[in-house]
Amino acid sequence: MEKLLSLKRINQVAMAVFVAAVLSGLSTNVVTAESNPPPFKESHLEYYAQLDVRLPGISTAFLPPINTTLSANFGAGTLFASNITEGVAATSKLLGSVRGYTVETSYLGSPDSWLLEVAFVEYDDGYYNGTLQLQGLVQQSLTELAITGGSGSFRGAKGYLVVTLVVDSLPTRTFRHDLTFL
Ligand SMILES: *[C@@H]1O[C@H](CO)[C@@H](O)[C@H](O)[C@H]1NC(C)=O
Ligand SMILES: *[C@@H]1O[C@H](CO)[C@@H](O)[C@H](O)[C@H]1NC(C)=O
Ligand SMILES: *[C@@H]1O[C@H](CO)[C@@H](O)[C@H](O)[C@H]1NC(C)=O
Repeated sequence: MEKLLSLKRINQVAMAVFVAAVLSGLSTNVVTAESNPPPFKESHLEYYAQLDVRLPGISTAFLPPINTTLSANFGAGTLFASNITEGVAATSKLLGSVRGYTVETSYLGSPDSWLLEVAFVEYDDGYYNGTLQLQGLVQQSLTELAITGGSGSFRGAKGYLVVTLVVDSLPTRTFRHDLTFL
């Protein structure tokens, strides 16, 4: 799997270099293309994440609740990792991954069900390439995370991301991430 992924990336690098060379009419090299991906200048981006709840970490708490009698699920943590794709189908173009964790911040005195989520996205569509750092509250009604920064094409990124559950078909839950850059 790792091999397939890196072969795909290598093809994407080759394509990016080829396109850059054609556009500029100059020769260039892979090192330049990798270390200086084009800055992301658009205001929106979206992708899909398919979470298979059977995978390790996603459904199992990697941190147990502190004390369910005294504090409900306060402190319980879930670790997740998923591919991200261009379309809703897991077989659509692979763009990278989203990985992170949520921690329950609600105890018996807080009747909401807010979770703190911290995650990062690795994104590579063959043109834009980099990481995004995400942080915010997961709520049943609306999950909006802050985009707090990034690397590569997303250096200095600022904005927000809305998470929508688009397919709830266990064992897979598919989420759409709508990103707005400010
Ligand atoms: C992620 O994508 C890779 C490459 O397409 C694939 O081999 C792997 O099975 C995917 N992982 C999941 C959890 O779908
Ligand atoms: C994207 O960046 C990663 C990490 O620097 C690199 O391995 C990959 O080849 C890059 N992809 C493209 C298309 O340049
Ligand atoms: C949880 O808190 C309750 C109330 O203080 C206490 O009686 C119980 O022993 C605690 N349970 C654990 C596993 O610490």
